Amino acid sequence: MEIKPIIAPSLLSADFGNLKKDVQMLNKSKADWIHMDIMDGVFVPNISFGIPVVKAVRQLSEKPLDTHLMIVQPERYIHAFKEAGADMLTVHWEACTHLHRTIYQIKEEGMLAGVALNPHTPVAGLEDVINDLDLVLIMSVNPGFGGQKFIPRALHKIAALREMVERNNAETLIEVDGGVCRDNLADIMAAGADAVVAGNAVFKAEDPKKEILTLKNI
Ligand code: DX5
Ligand code: ZN
Repeated sequence: MEIKPIIAPSLLSADFGNLKKDVQMLNKSKADWIHMDIMDGVFVPNISFGIPVVKAVRQLSEKPLDTHLMIVQPERYIHAFKEAGADMLTVHWEACTHLHRTIYQIKEEGMLAGVALNPHTPVAGLEDVINDLDLVLIMSVNPGFGGQKFIPRALHKIAALREMVERNNAETLIEVDGGVCRDNLADIMAAGADAVVAGNAVFKAEDPKKEILTLKNI
């Protein structure tokens, strides 16, 4: 059976002057989740938006909020993101000294727990927590900015992670973030992904709603 990708448009590429319009467009689209990129200017060299914006989007959105924390010490903000309305909370492997504890703090708040891996971080580092995870986010660009080019090596990491998930009988979803577009989505899915983030591919398209549909049907 053909499996359709879970599509998570990233609001980082949306029109911040008219976020309401873009969220309403996503509500009417075939998007499955809304991906929200939180950057602190320390873990990544850029600052995006924070908790009040997640809260505002929660009021407008009919889709689950897939929240990607590119911040140091993310454990300090787990409760605040739950309060703001996040459904899924993904922290970076590289930002967590006590990753296992942080995963369970996210779950105890009633959110799905995800871990993101930077392009240089081997998938093997997840072996001992794979059964605890709802989601793994494979970064296919260096986090910090939208509109970057997909790093092809990510395809091997997706395949290695798929193998790990199967071997451990885990139910972990594999999501891919960075440079995803209609030209590489088939390869990403063939490598073993379940979900993809798409920022520029959606919001810079002439008709974003139609582009989401195109991605969904690849
Ligand atoms: C990058 C972010 C991505 C970004 C993706 O740090 O994690 O979610 O918004 O944007 P595109 O799809 O344009 O690469
Ligand atoms: Zn992201």
